[in-house]
Amino acid sequence: EQIEKGGYDHFMLKEIYEQPDVIKDTYRGRLHANDGIIQMAGVEDNLEKFLNADRIIIVACGTSWHAGLVAEYIFEEFARIPVEVEYASEFRYRNPIINSKDIVIAISQSGETADTMAAIKLAKENGAFVFGVCNVVGSSISRETHAGAYTHAGPEIGVASTKAFTTQITVLTMIALRLAKAKGTMSVSDFHMYLQELEIIPEKVKEALETNQRAKEIASVFKDAPNCLYLGRGYNFPVALEGALKLKEISYIHAEGYPAAEMKHGPIALIDEHMPVVVIAPKQGHYDKIVSNIQEIKSRSGKIIAVVTKGDTQVRELADYVIEIPETSDALSPLITTIPLQLLSYHIAVMRGCNVDQPRNLAKSVTVE
Ligand code: G6P
Repeated sequence: EQIEKGGYDHFMLKEIYEQPDVIKDTYRGRLHANDGIIQMAGVEDNLEKFLNADRIIIVACGTSWHAGLVAEYIFEEFARIPVEVEYASEFRYRNPIINSKDIVIAISQSGETADTMAAIKLAKENGAFVFGVCNVVGSSISRETHAGAYTHAGPEIGVASTKAFTTQITVLTMIALRLAKAKGTMSVSDFHMYLQELEIIPEKVKEALETNQRAKEIASVFKDAPNCLYLGRGYNFPVALEGALKLKEISYIHAEGYPAAEMKHGPIALIDEHMPVVVIAPKQGHYDKIVSNIQEIKSRSGKIIAVVTKGDTQVRELADYVIEIPETSDALSPLITTIPLQLLSYHIAVMRGCNVDQPRNLAKSVTVE
């Protein structure tokens, strides 16, 4: 097992560090930035279906559901297709309205999640075209779907998902870009810009991994906190959910993710000098709005840990701790902002003596409902 961990203390840490490589593996052969080409066989073969779709319904569970939420923002912005994101377990039991002009995208690392599988069967019975985004080749979901695109994350051993999440976002972003091109919903210059940017994302993820030491320092300050709040807006709202999920899964600290502006409708009541609040505040996305959310936290003495773009000064003045990440476009930022949050959870869990790779009560693949 020590050998399999490749010199890392835990599979989770190894998998966090694999992200630059596996993101590259996931777009390799599919993304040709210099030629302005994005192609995935499963999408090309069914392009008409995608272009005629009235809407896309994404079904998934857990971290994969969070990747679906990021995709909702990306698909709607890039390809102007309405998207709904559903917990598979809710979708399957609520007699949903589905028809043959719907595309259902099922996201699953393992390809074995029982609720997601049942949602796929239901969608198929109702005539929808079902597309899978799975990591495990030949898995039940990859076989049950009409078509699909694999993530190439390699085996994910740590129960808390890390590299599967970022590779799922990579695949979904590529699909959205391909559809945007076919539909003409994005300017040619933006299309090329995103392709170029996606191609250099692995380098930026590598740079974001350099926050490891900083994340460790911050972890040592907050490791005994009973609660933690995560806030983000826009593309980074799902990242806040995922950051909170990672922390609760492996450290057993109660954590909640919230859209930053929604804080005033509830979580703000929890904020006092004991409450750590992780705010995802990159320069590109709703920056001024996030700054005023941070001011609201500060005026209630909350402890602010902010993920900011390198060189940021405004948030730095307000926050108790900052973690700097490289700049990228708003839409691609989840691939970067997620990294320090994974590291923060990891270090907190290690410092609390938790079983990082196999947290209590959780399973890597949930094959029963
Ligand atoms: C379990 C795992 C999570 C995962 C979820 C969905 O809860 O512990 O890490 O996100 O299942 O799994 P899937 O394989 O369908 O992505």
